[in-house]
Amino acid sequence: MAVPIIMTVPVFSTLCNAAFTLRRQVFVWEQHVPPEEELDADDLTATHFVAVSEGEVAGTLRLIERADDMKIGRVAVHPAFRSRGIAKAMMLAAMAHAKALGCDRFYLTAQTDKVQFYERLGYVAYGEEFTDGGMPHLAMKTY
Ligand SMILES: CC(C)(COP(=O)(O)OP(=O)(O)OC[C@H]1O[C@@H](n2cnc3c(N)ncnc32)[C@H](O)[C@@H]1OP(=O)(O)O)[C@@H](O)C(=O)NCCC(=O)NCCS
Repeated sequence: MAVPIIMTVPVFSTLCNAAFTLRRQVFVWEQHVPPEEELDADDLTATHFVAVSEGEVAGTLRLIERADDMKIGRVAVHPAFRSRGIAKAMMLAAMAHAKALGCDRFYLTAQTDKVQFYERLGYVAYGEEFTDGGMPHLAMKTY
């Protein structure tokens, strides 16, 4: 199986726009997140990661710098490329990128049925379940 190439891409570059298209496919079409919530102002300042496999944009996520931590979000893998370790590889790449910048505290909000995926990467859920984009979520962070 091809090893994905994971890179950071400038917002609105060709690869980033392809990642935005993938996000729309995954979150709006597949998961029915309201389209007006999918792209937001954080996209302008986030660091966008793209996984390229077999010449296709197979996955993406974004990293947002906050006062006390880094927030990881919009983790999406194209259905045809799932269960190949691409999301895990993107998460590890984003966390290594942040650590190289001196930040090793991470926060995210996980769809409740994805909590186990993030637990395997060292995240711990806390607080009450809440609804976002029409789906139940839990806040998670690293300690
Ligand atoms: C969730 C998603 C990003 C996982 O991507 P993926 O590339 O298939 O995941 P990986 O292959 O990297 O999986 C890594 C590990 O997590 C596990 N995992 C993957 N999806 C999981 C899930 N839904 N629940 C629990 N564990 C999961 C895998 O079994 C694997 O375990 P291993 O390291 O022990 O082998 C992908 O299914 C997706 O894009 N879903 C739709 C969008 C979404 O839900 N995003 C997350 C929002 S919080």
